[in-house]
Amino acid sequence: MNRSIGARLVTMFAAAALVTFALIGTALYTVLDRELTRHQDDELHIGLKNMAYSIQHVGTVERWSRVKARMDTLAPQEGNLRFWVLSDDPRFLYGTGLADMQRMTQDADGRGAIMLPGQSYAMRTQSTYIEPLDDRPGVRLIIGSDSTPYRHTRQAFFTALLGLSLFAVLAVALLGYWIARVGLKPLEQLSDKAQALRPKTLSQRLPEAALPIELQALTQAFNGALARLEEAYAQLEAFNADVAHELRTPLANLIGGTQVALSRPRSAPEFQEVLASNLEDLERLRSIVNDMLFLARADRGEVATGLVHTPIAAEVSKTIEFFEFVLDESGMQVHIDGDQGIEAQLETSLFRRAMSNLLQNAIEHSAPGAQLTVGLREDADATWITVSNPGEPIARAHQQHLFDRFYRVDAARHGLGQHHGHGLGLAIVKAVAGMHGGQVMATSAGGINTIGFSVARSAVTTADAA
Ligand SMILES: Nc1ncnc2c1ncn2[C@@H]1O[C@H](COP(=O)(O)OP(=O)(O)OP(=O)(O)O)[C@@H](O)[C@H]1O
Ligand SMILES: [Mg+2]
Repeated sequence: MNRSIGARLVTMFAAAALVTFALIGTALYTVLDRELTRHQDDELHIGLKNMAYSIQHVGTVERWSRVKARMDTLAPQEGNLRFWVLSDDPRFLYGTGLADMQRMTQDADGRGAIMLPGQSYAMRTQSTYIEPLDDRPGVRLIIGSDSTPYRHTRQAFFTALLGLSLFAVLAVALLGYWIARVGLKPLEQLSDKAQALRPKTLSQRLPEAALPIELQALTQAFNGALARLEEAYAQLEAFNADVAHELRTPLANLIGGTQVALSRPRSAPEFQEVLASNLEDLERLRSIVNDMLFLARADRGEVATGLVHTPIAAEVSKTIEFFEFVLDESGMQVHIDGDQGIEAQLETSLFRRAMSNLLQNAIEHSAPGAQLTVGLREDADATWITVSNPGEPIARAHQQHLFDRFYRVDAARHGLGQHHGHGLGLAIVKAVAGMHGGQVMATSAGGINTIGFSVARSAVTTADAA
């Protein structure tokens, strides 16, 4: 049912007009019909009364002939009106086709109808009985009126009504078409504007102010979608720029180092040194590329598979073991806080990856001798794993961007270690959380920075049920 709104409106307008005119037409016709009948009856009644009055005072044959003459003038042969007088005395009979009068139907009031030979419609009649006087016996006076002129009026009226109604329906349909066109114009303009949108013009918005209110919600929703699209597009562009930027430094190092090494003859140990330095940069490149490949997989909506029911505290301890050397070196300690018995449904390799990114950050951003805490906590639908370390507060403005790709609060400032992060660690934590149906969080309060992620508990329950 893909009919256009315009066609639908026109059909509905026409149907509404048809129903309206049919109702009004029927009502008008009924009123006219009743009025015409009443008029005809009135005419008959007056004619009957007047003639009856004349006959009442006639008692002789001579005077009767004057009555007949009067009836002849009042109801000429070609006229619509007819008189008949029925009587036992043949001298007081009047009217043509008196034999036919047997067929006249009549009600108690003397109203009736008669079908005369050679006519297609019945005549309306009224009759009255007149008491005898002198020579004259009691007679029955009948007056009849031909319905043909009334019938013609009715027919003409009906035809006019039908014609007018059809014309009106047609006019309303045309008008409806025009109204629909005018009414839908803003929609057309809107779609033209939307069609003109290109990646280059993503910052444009459809105008909301001049629109009819019905379209405003739609436009707002569309503009909202545009805003999100623009943001995603801008992020993508920024991401490309960041990738290029991140890859440029190690590549420049590699090229520069190699050029210097080749600029004059070198001994084997010297070349070994250069190659070792190159290897460092190459590994850095590989780690960026690997991280980006991982993020791309997560972006495609890949979710954690091979989920295993895992006691989290034990898994965290295993990750901490990897950092034992660095921790000892800087005199730091990690302790696990919260319910040690918590279990979750995890893909352990992903979990360790996220965990070690968090620990690495905490170590990098704390002073030697600091006390780090891994917090474990369960709420209604998620299990939270957080890492806290004492350190400089992270401003609110930064907190919401920590998990963005290539985002570093201060790219120039680094705490312990020679590690120069490229700002993908927390983006990977976020991706891992997403792959487990979880979320991320970051807070900075009372000199303690806490960053963490969650994994959905629903996965655990479904796995348990299975
Ligand atoms: N525990 C923390 N305390 C203070 N700032 C932090 C902490 N963890 C992360 N940050 C800030 O968040 C930024 C992003 O962290 P992320 O782990 O994504 O990148 P990175 O550590 O700079 O590089 P990478 O982890 O990719 O080697 C960091 O540059 C740092 O400024
Ligand atoms: Mg990091």
